[in-house]
Amino acid sequence: MGRAFVYVILGGGVAAGYAALEFSRRGVAPGELCIISEETVAPYERPALSKGFLLPEAPARLPAFHTCVGANDERLTPDWYKEHGIELVLGTRVKSADVRRKTLITAMGETISYKVLIIATGARALKLEEFGVKGSDAVNVCYLRNLADASRLVNVMQSCNDGNAVVIGGGYIGMECAAALVTNRIKVTMVFPEAHCMARLFTPKIADFYEGQYESKGVNFIKGTVLTSFENDSEGKVTAVILKDGTRVPTDMVVVGIGIRANTALFDGQLAIEKGGIKVNGRMQTSNSSVYAVGDVAAFPVKLFGGDIRRLEHVDSARKTAKHAVAAIMAPEKSAKHAVAAIMAPEKTADFDYLPFFYSRVFSFSWQFYGDNVGQVIHYGDFSGGKFGAYWLDKGRIIGAFLEGGNREEYEAIAKVVKHKTTIKDVSELERRGLDYALRS
Ligand code: FDA
Ligand code: NAD
Repeated sequence: MGRAFVYVILGGGVAAGYAALEFSRRGVAPGELCIISEETVAPYERPALSKGFLLPEAPARLPAFHTCVGANDERLTPDWYKEHGIELVLGTRVKSADVRRKTLITAMGETISYKVLIIATGARALKLEEFGVKGSDAVNVCYLRNLADASRLVNVMQSCNDGNAVVIGGGYIGMECAAALVTNRIKVTMVFPEAHCMARLFTPKIADFYEGQYESKGVNFIKGTVLTSFENDSEGKVTAVILKDGTRVPTDMVVVGIGIRANTALFDGQLAIEKGGIKVNGRMQTSNSSVYAVGDVAAFPVKLFGGDIRRLEHVDSARKTAKHAVAAIMAPEKSAKHAVAAIMAPEKTADFDYLPFFYSRVFSFSWQFYGDNVGQVIHYGDFSGGKFGAYWLDKGRIIGAFLEGGNREEYEAIAKVVKHKTTIKDVSELERRGLDYALRS
């Protein structure tokens, strides 16, 4: 039993949705493209799961956040795929892949063959068990990666009205979920191993601002430590977390956000792997010329960083790598309708030129970051609750910029100085002028 397609997208997340949109814009014929996803719903904007989806009032629910609302205000609902002749194979896990034979085998045993494959399998949440802590399968311990996790988190939150939560991890999931829990009137204790929150991105000074805001809303931080075990009641529900130094933190629920691992396993030994992801070139093409990789699972060269290979775990890069891969695949779309010809011509597409972009929104705060956060840091602005930010300088040039509370023009300005790697002759002037420096560059 089997089906054959010209193009197959493996994975049905953010990158898959944006790839489908690009295929449709470039004129894919009905029946040529298929998306296979373990999830039971059409691709959606995953960032909504830790924001609008968790709101106590008027929470976001599908179909309101199917991809690609951010791109063109056109929502890719299941009907959209039908209208465009794109096959959605949902609730279907691919259990093996053979890039030499160009086949995928699903958990149900179906063989799906392709001429061109786009791997968009994203990532999975790391489990506490992988760090030697047992019991994170308890009913009131939540991870957050997909819609099913988010629905479960909402149910657990609702059963904890006015209760307490422990959030494990001080990264994106930890910070956004802690804010959501507070908004749902649940008292939060955050536990993480680093000296400050968002250690992968924030400077101590930036982190100090947000921690202060969280504390003012009742969040308690326990930093520089990890949990070692859970305490459970007779029904197996977690009632407390036990920290490394023996401290016992009673709780009604736990949210865990301790990082992710890219879903590369199907291709281990078949495709080149780097930085924990599937290595691609500037056209998102893997070490097998018929196979592309996009989104969280792809490790791609970032021109801006001298071609350094990076794996970025953010939605903007998922959207844009997807679009770029399809552009490369369909490069000669007018002259060559057939994929066999198309895969011969990806070299006609320029290398992906990407400016890394991350953002978050919590409470009434909203920040954006562009570039890389290495080198000398110059902070600017009002850290008492106004507009503030930072530049990162490397060899006298701006290579990263952060801004809290900016408007569109201001965010565009900081993006621009990073994109141009603006040379700074006088660091004290940059410090003095702050955001104005980017605005007038
Ligand atoms: P994504 O994870 O979206 O999709 C992967 C898909 O592949 C899933 O549908 C999965 O089921 C499927 N799949 C995997 N293996 C499979 C198999 N063997 N068979 C079939 N299907 C398989 N970023 C940001 O910049 N700003 C933000 O605010 C947020 N917020 C945010 C909130 C939450 C809760 C999460 C979990 C993540 C974010 N992110 C974010 C990160 C962002 O969502 C992420 O970078 C993109 O979703 C990556 O898109 P991908 O399509 O690569 O993977
Ligand atoms: P993360 O990498 O942002 O943070 C992981 C955190 O886990 C670390 O900061 C650390 O505090 C903690 N940690 C690591 N090992 C630990 C251990 N053994 N015990 C306790 N804590 C430990 O990952 P995340 O917060 O889990 O986010 C998952 C993914 O979702 C990431 O790819 C992230 O980019 C994405 N995401 C992005 C956004 C956004 O961009 N706004 C929002 C939500 C999620």
